[in-house]
Amino acid sequence: MFELKERDGLARMCELTTKHGRVTTPALLPVVNPNQLTIAPKDMKEALGVEILITNAYIIWKDQKLRERVKESTVHELLGFDGPIMTDSGTFQNHVYGDVQVDHREIVQFQNEIGSDIGTILDVFSEPEFTENEASHAVDVTLERARDSIEHKGDMLLAGPVQGGVYTHLRGACAESLSKMNLDLHPIGGVVPLLQDYRFAEVVDIVMASRMHLNPSRPVHLFGAGHPMVFPLAVLMGCDMFDSSSYAKYAREGRLMYPEGTRFLNDLHDLACGCAACSRTTADELRGMDRNDRTRIIAEHNLRVSLRELKKIKNAIHEGSIWEMVEMRARAHPALLEALKVLSKHAKFMERAEPVSRKAAFFYCGPESYDRPAVMRYRERFFSRYRRPNSKVLVGFDDADKPYSRHYANEIRAISKEVDASFLVASFFGPVPTELDEMYPIAQSVIPRSVDPEVLRRIRDVMERHAHDHGYPLAVMWEGEETLEFLRDVAPGKSPADPDLLRCRAVLDMQFGKGAGDVLDGKEVEFVKSRKTGKIRNVIIAGRHAFSMRAHDGLFTLKMDGARMLMQALPPTKMRVVIEDEPAEFAAKGANVFSKFVIDCDPDIRPGDYAMVVNTKGELAATGRALMNLEEMMAFDRGVAVRVRQTDS
Ligand code: GUN
Ligand code: ZN
Repeated sequence: MFELKERDGLARMCELTTKHGRVTTPALLPVVNPNQLTIAPKDMKEALGVEILITNAYIIWKDQKLRERVKESTVHELLGFDGPIMTDSGTFQNHVYGDVQVDHREIVQFQNEIGSDIGTILDVFSEPEFTENEASHAVDVTLERARDSIEHKGDMLLAGPVQGGVYTHLRGACAESLSKMNLDLHPIGGVVPLLQDYRFAEVVDIVMASRMHLNPSRPVHLFGAGHPMVFPLAVLMGCDMFDSSSYAKYAREGRLMYPEGTRFLNDLHDLACGCAACSRTTADELRGMDRNDRTRIIAEHNLRVSLRELKKIKNAIHEGSIWEMVEMRARAHPALLEALKVLSKHAKFMERAEPVSRKAAFFYCGPESYDRPAVMRYRERFFSRYRRPNSKVLVGFDDADKPYSRHYANEIRAISKEVDASFLVASFFGPVPTELDEMYPIAQSVIPRSVDPEVLRRIRDVMERHAHDHGYPLAVMWEGEETLEFLRDVAPGKSPADPDLLRCRAVLDMQFGKGAGDVLDGKEVEFVKSRKTGKIRNVIIAGRHAFSMRAHDGLFTLKMDGARMLMQALPPTKMRVVIEDEPAEFAAKGANVFSKFVIDCDPDIRPGDYAMVVNTKGELAATGRALMNLEEMMAFDRGVAVRVRQTDS
């Protein structure tokens, strides 16, 4: 019922299947108040392209007239909307008015009776100011009600919200318990007061604590997040659904939403928007209109702007630029910037979903860019996986145009003739040996010449760590001709190593794990190179085509022969995805591997990794690109886990 289609880290595009059709996430669910239709649901669908909406079952249940009407038909007929409808349960009304008197089982049963596609349990709203005891009690009651509610859900999907106030351990425990129940999606609840007060940093900790313990195959809904300025950050953290009543509420107050914030109509010189609502009018005209017409137009604007922001987010996921989008949007409000900084605490968890490379280049957007998982991963893999060449001297170069080996080609040639040296650049990402300079994200990054001082300091710390660790008998910074004169005296010799072989070995270690490069040892290795760029294309080991190097990210694709060699060099399960025997036979004929057939996989496999598909006996069936990490492969029962690329047949 929920299938992963495309992703950029935790940000993902999925397809959610409901009784009333499919929805592409990330999705915005406009809140429709059955008593007050600011925009008719039918128009939302036909004119604005809204796929799914949310209404409140408690409001219907409580109102004698509405209840009578809906009892004879469905919530779809009541609202005049034939797409999927999610219903909420009255929790929020209890938060606002505190007088909700309905049995938690009855309200779930009612949602099912009126034909809701996605119902919500009657959770307990955990307020930000709750003490730990109060929040813990809210979690306990929420979990108890969730358990009671499942038998009443019928053919409706059921949402079990994560509560726990601002206590991240309670959020985590609640998420973990809910994940074990027969629920279908997980809103994160109790955050509306935080969102209203721009306390986004706390929302980040709450969402991440929840997300970390939720079943990754279920949609995550951020309850009450209806402002487009929070969408990119929320999607980056793995949120799939949002609901907005703000579009209408703000409209009634004469406030227009923009991705960069909210503006009062009275303060605007120009609407500065090309949406269908704004292109029919002007700020002055709008100010002169009667209240209802004005509200209707601003509500449409607010909804259109929100929907467009989600479309831009989908583009960003598709091209691999969600981090850039979030960092740019974070400039809209200092509270967003602070939230982004708090997110860096969670880099380790986010790295597990981080793709091995992207279509889009890595753009430096500010000092926060240094905290992206891609930067952390390069650094960690360099220190844990990279093995230095056996030369006597390390020559360090200043950062320069990429690829470094081309920029410094003359220097490298001159030094290599007379000195047994390796070469390394102090880059934004940390130490980059020239062997690694074509690999993502090094060559695919655009970093300004002068980065912010705090980043410079952090780079310097990393280089210092390298200075202690590198193990070369001698290391010098290149200062020009005089450096060569010095080296000629103290370390005469000649580099015996072939740069192509060094590159191949270093990339294999970085990509597949330390030791992968050993497949080259003692073998005759040939390189087929691009005639145009001179870059390595194919690697032939002992007469067999083992790997190809992709031009766009400098990483290897795995041929079957290469996979067999790697299986010798790496211990069992490393870079393997173990699947059931029968699907393995299909994979061997070229069929993709569905997540439901996966038995086990290397916990170090990341989205985009080239992996070996093996059967229960460990026999190689195919190679292909993993689209998921271990947790996801085990959790999803739909969708492709490995896109098969190579087989023997
Ligand atoms: N709407 C906004 N916040 C919440 C929440 O915490 N629970 C429910 N059920 N609905 C909400
Ligand atoms: Zn507009």
